[in-house]
Amino acid sequence: MDIKKIKFARGILTVPGDKSISHRAVMLGSLASGTTEITGFLQGADCLSTIDCFRNMGINIDVNGENVTVRGNGLYGLKKPEMTLYTGNSGTTTRLLCGILSAQPFDTEITGDASICKRPMGRVTKPLSLMGARIDNEYCPLYIHGTQLHGIDYKMPVASAQVKTAILLAGLYADGETIVRETEKSRDHTELMLGAMGADISVNGLDVTVRKTDSLSSVKADVPGDISSAAFFMVLGAVMPNSEITIRNVGINPTRTGIIDVLRDMGADLSIENVRISAGESVADITVKSSALRGATVEGAIIPRLIDELPVIAVAAAVADGETVIKDAAELKVKETNRIRAVVDEFKKCGIDITETDDGMIIRGGKAIRGADFKTYGDHRMAMSLTVLAQLADGGSTIDDAECVNISYPGFFENFYSLGK
Ligand code: S3P
Repeated sequence: MDIKKIKFARGILTVPGDKSISHRAVMLGSLASGTTEITGFLQGADCLSTIDCFRNMGINIDVNGENVTVRGNGLYGLKKPEMTLYTGNSGTTTRLLCGILSAQPFDTEITGDASICKRPMGRVTKPLSLMGARIDNEYCPLYIHGTQLHGIDYKMPVASAQVKTAILLAGLYADGETIVRETEKSRDHTELMLGAMGADISVNGLDVTVRKTDSLSSVKADVPGDISSAAFFMVLGAVMPNSEITIRNVGINPTRTGIIDVLRDMGADLSIENVRISAGESVADITVKSSALRGATVEGAIIPRLIDELPVIAVAAAVADGETVIKDAAELKVKETNRIRAVVDEFKKCGIDITETDDGMIIRGGKAIRGADFKTYGDHRMAMSLTVLAQLADGGSTIDDAECVNISYPGFFENFYSLGK
């Protein structure tokens, strides 16, 4: 697809619902007693994979646009699926399901697409096996032999909300107490939602404790706009001349707002208004205006707070004055594709001065950028980041797989081009 270029980006928009919260609302709603009404649900392919998996375990789920009704069967109400559960491209679906399925009184098999089959599942199967889980394989397809679990005290080697959540969900079923200790705080949507549903859960700094729980009560889940989707427009508004973009109703949970901190550090003119709490999550309207950016160092505890935004932060770095260093981000290698390699290879095609490192990249920004024929590697966030990058290039650009944006952002291109009119 040719990436059309816009001359400026001006307007007000909302982005689709948060992917992490949408997954959790369906999963926990399925395990709750009673009906969960979800508004603002993300109809991206990943979250639809989660719905499919739970329907295949006997849960009645009605989808009416962004409104989804989940009729939970209780914590012990899932039925053995008649087929292999297919999780598509979704790491969150696959890993969180491992936690739930390990504790069921039946066996299951899970698999996903080619990307999922290459992503490491040992990071969840290992701690779950310490709880007594019996899972064959460390890559999909996974065979899960459901069994009674017991609590553990687990120190996480990598900051990962998916791993943390898998253990916490298993902990709902496990005898005794399950403690997960993080070295850096990853997104905490699970803890917030489980707390609201009445689970026996407590958070103490970087440690989360959950105890065996008999039932979860259903809640109303208003899913805010996904800050990871809003990030493309935050960067676009900052890097394009003569631009001002307001994104309404964006989730600003502090475990997700690293992108705001980094853009401000780079000199972006970014304001946050109308901060409010909705269904336990902080929400706000964000406005970004054209800004002269400078390079920054992105490292340490901020990384889990912006892990999905690093490809588009690299775009901001390409136009920023000076050097941007991204480190402590080796996790990028095990996302939908190796995002360090993908960003470096694609940016080099445009003449950007970029160096791959073991755990990130170094970008010396502010030099001429030329258009290129880009590969997305089937990775939705690469496709959207490259669409922003193409706006900054002299000459035209193409991407090989524009469709993959539907994983997290159906309607991305419509929203994008509405800003150039
Ligand atoms: C997610 C956690 C993150 C993130 C992913 C969604 C979640 O992955 O990259 O897009 O919903 O828990 P990790 O927890 O593996 O870092």
